[in-house]
Amino acid sequence: MKFFIDTANLEEIQEAHELGILSGVTTNPSLVAKEGVDFQERLKEITSVVTEGSVSAEVVALDAPGMIKEGEELAAIAPNITIKVPMTSEGLKAVRTFSEKNIKTNVTLIFSANQALLAARAGATYVSPFLGRLDDIGHDGLDLVSTIAEIFDLHGIDTEIIAASIRHPQHVTESALRGAHIATVPLKVIHQLVKHPLTDSGIEKFLSDWESANK
Ligand code: E4P
Repeated sequence: MKFFIDTANLEEIQEAHELGILSGVTTNPSLVAKEGVDFQERLKEITSVVTEGSVSAEVVALDAPGMIKEGEELAAIAPNITIKVPMTSEGLKAVRTFSEKNIKTNVTLIFSANQALLAARAGATYVSPFLGRLDDIGHDGLDLVSTIAEIFDLHGIDTEIIAASIRHPQHVTESALRGAHIATVPLKVIHQLVKHPLTDSGIEKFLSDWESANK
């Protein structure tokens, strides 16, 4: 399973990029709004840091022609832009058009296996099931990842599954085990993945032993 970072914050993207673990970036309108920046300018900045991995940029139009127009403009910013499209009937139509134009797509706000299957059949490059938001309403987001992975495997579908709305390290481990190809993770959770108290105490002990022996 690969790692994307889920943010529109440039410093966070740079920090994750420097760790050497980053395969892409996902943004959404809420994350961009939080930054208070021009969306297209920010995408130029992000794609100058992440030059090869997928960078998801979400359309805000609700009708297919509007999504296609917006998506084409966003896709022209850099070759590694992926157009993020919400899982609606209009979104499916737009995904089919993008797919025919060889523009990569990430179908977002996936909350059921049937939605994922439809998105894949419309030609989506990625589908993004939202784990945390399903957990929030008492469902099991991870079960959805397992079901989608099983269906895609059974039917030879090559659309990749991005585990999204990740809230904690267990979501990451379980997404990997259940067959997600990618997890898009906030920087806070990436930090949590790096740390372990036994690593910290181990380093402390090694250093103190080293210093005692080299006095
Ligand atoms: C995914 O691409 C979304 O940007 C994101 O994971 C949503 O997460 P949230 O539920 O924490 O807003």
